[in-house]
Amino acid sequence: MTLPKQAPPGIDPQIPWCSELRCLRCRASLRTVQSELVCETCAAAYPIDCGIPRFVPADNYADGFGYQWNRHRLTQLDSHSGTTISRDRVMKASGWTAEQLHGKSVLECGSGAGRFTEVLCETGAIVTSFDISSAVHANAASNGRFPNLRLFQASIYDLPLPEESFDFLFCFGVIQHTPDVERTFKAMFRYLRPGGRFCIDVYAAPISYLHPRQLLRPLTKRIPPARLYSIVDETAPKLLPLAMGLSDVPVAGPCLARLVPVATHRHLNLRDKRTIRDWSVLDTFDWLAPRYERPQPRRRLQRWAMDLRLRSFRVERHRGLYVIRGVK
Ligand SMILES: C[S@@+](CC[C@H](N)C(=O)[O-])C[C@H]1O[C@@H](n2cnc3c(N)ncnc32)[C@H](O)[C@@H]1O
Repeated sequence: MTLPKQAPPGIDPQIPWCSELRCLRCRASLRTVQSELVCETCAAAYPIDCGIPRFVPADNYADGFGYQWNRHRLTQLDSHSGTTISRDRVMKASGWTAEQLHGKSVLECGSGAGRFTEVLCETGAIVTSFDISSAVHANAASNGRFPNLRLFQASIYDLPLPEESFDFLFCFGVIQHTPDVERTFKAMFRYLRPGGRFCIDVYAAPISYLHPRQLLRPLTKRIPPARLYSIVDETAPKLLPLAMGLSDVPVAGPCLARLVPVATHRHLNLRDKRTIRDWSVLDTFDWLAPRYERPQPRRRLQRWAMDLRLRSFRVERHRGLYVIRGVK
């Protein structure tokens, strides 16, 4: 992935909020020295790429996501699609309101291109957001305009943040794509303060295992992202009318459409042809490229929540996902 040459508008490469970050090695404070963040105690240094601090190697297991989100920087942002799809999803799943979030600190884990970052920033919350991949640069280009956004590149497993410091924790579309889902789930809670609220989703097992992409992914995940993307970009728009046609068949339609390995988004009622095509290519690639995809059963989520001794939680099914939300 080629990075932008300079920080996008709104992103200050001096990282004025760097006092909120911590050294990964010794947990001391960091300060900006030229194009790096440097630890005030142990002198560890972290690069600042185009205005975004980076705490992981530039290349890692999520490179396909970096590619995908930089190709589709705007596709799913409400401000681009002219819809409220992302906003409705956050508010419905979490049960949070803009008034509750306003002025509060929110940690968003695995933000991708920032469709939900935009929604959270619009509430007036102080949003700290990160992703392990170069998707952070797509997010910065789209959401750098929000003065209440702090953005960096890091892994959930090792965050440069003080523990128990956030009022809200939000993570959508991420944990099934990590190497150790239980560890990922539990690691995020370290940063939520006692009494803080959380909302996390995950692909639901066993239903997600019955999808035809599961037959293809062992092969497609080995194809370099740019090559796989050009295959998907070529084939998904051709398969889309077939999948749409099958889904119109009375009663059996949704099951028949699932036999065609292309994302249709029928349930979203997208109108414009270009939008339908872009969402289809993006999500078909998103099905086929991830190195890891491990859907989880409801009981396992409940067990992890019990292990963490959360004050309250509930698990709900939303189409092919489980959403777990509650209070730490
Ligand atoms: C399917 S995308 C979802 C992005 C965004 N939350 C959304 O719903 O549009 C999954 C994201 O998780 C990120 N990710 C995977 N493992 C991660 C980790 N260990 N730490 C942080 N982000 C991670 C990927 O880079 C990718 O952008």
